[in-house]
Amino acid sequence: MRRLVAEHRTHPADLVLPMFVREGLAEPAPLGSMPGVVQHTMDSLRRAATEAAEAGVGGLMLFGVPAERDAVGSAASEPDGILNAGLRALVEEVGDAVVVMSDLCLDEFTDHGHCGVLDGEGRVDNDATLVRYQEMALAQAATGAHMLGLSGMMDGQVAAVREVLERDGYTDTSVLAYSAKYASAFYGPFRDAVDSQLRGDRKTYQMDPANGREGLREATLDLAEGADVVMVKPALSYLDVLAEVAELSPVPVAAYQVSGEYAMIEAAAANGWIERRRAIEESVLSIQRAGADFVLTYWATELAGWLR
Ligand code: PBG
Repeated sequence: MRRLVAEHRTHPADLVLPMFVREGLAEPAPLGSMPGVVQHTMDSLRRAATEAAEAGVGGLMLFGVPAERDAVGSAASEPDGILNAGLRALVEEVGDAVVVMSDLCLDEFTDHGHCGVLDGEGRVDNDATLVRYQEMALAQAATGAHMLGLSGMMDGQVAAVREVLERDGYTDTSVLAYSAKYASAFYGPFRDAVDSQLRGDRKTYQMDPANGREGLREATLDLAEGADVVMVKPALSYLDVLAEVAELSPVPVAAYQVSGEYAMIEAAAANGWIERRRAIEESVLSIQRAGADFVLTYWATELAGWLR
């Protein structure tokens, strides 16, 4: 009876697997703060992508960790930079079966770790950053990636990227906007995963956890700028924002179950304090109940496997 009347259920196609590929790696490198997650070599990336596709996941979101960083994140827009090479590999390997998504942000590529370029006083320069995002967008679109994930929280980033994609004829490349992205403590393990160089915080561009209405405003702006998908991030601490965005959005809504959410459940489960599988399934289902059409989760492949 419960099965018959369930209002929501998780399907493998609702899940997107975030993946990390690192330049110059000989073997996959496990992440201490995210047990079960690795930085991939190009080969292990292909294998993990195939495994995810076979499990039926709906998409893959790729992050790149370059060997060299500089002030403007040059490697991010180089056609053969690690992220773009990784995207090309994913498109080739599984591009017919799953949606290949790219992280479009500079933080992994800058030597200061910020999501944008800095001005003379060391502040993130919003509009100069948009130019770099446009360069990244064209490089990523050229790899064949299906959906660009704009995670940098610069004002006007959706419009800026949309404009150059249209101009250069990339009319089939879609834009996923990280619309309501909060300056969150729950990104801690991710910053290990990308060897973040950041000192300080991102409070001048990511949102204040105190603000819900502002999250709706950010989503509304991104919709007006032409976002194909809007996202709320993190997920569990922001289910109220997610529900409200889902209420108003005419386009699909995504949510990102972030690294800290993953690490909390893994740590509690490792200690025997929580039932791992039930906690994973319940957490993802509650994100869907709040209104997410699809969920980015590091458990995507494993969870998809249980669901089959
Ligand atoms: C920034 C970015 C971050 C995450 C995804 N994209 C981190 C940040 O803003 O510091 C976090 C993902 C996670 O914690 O799982 N490009």
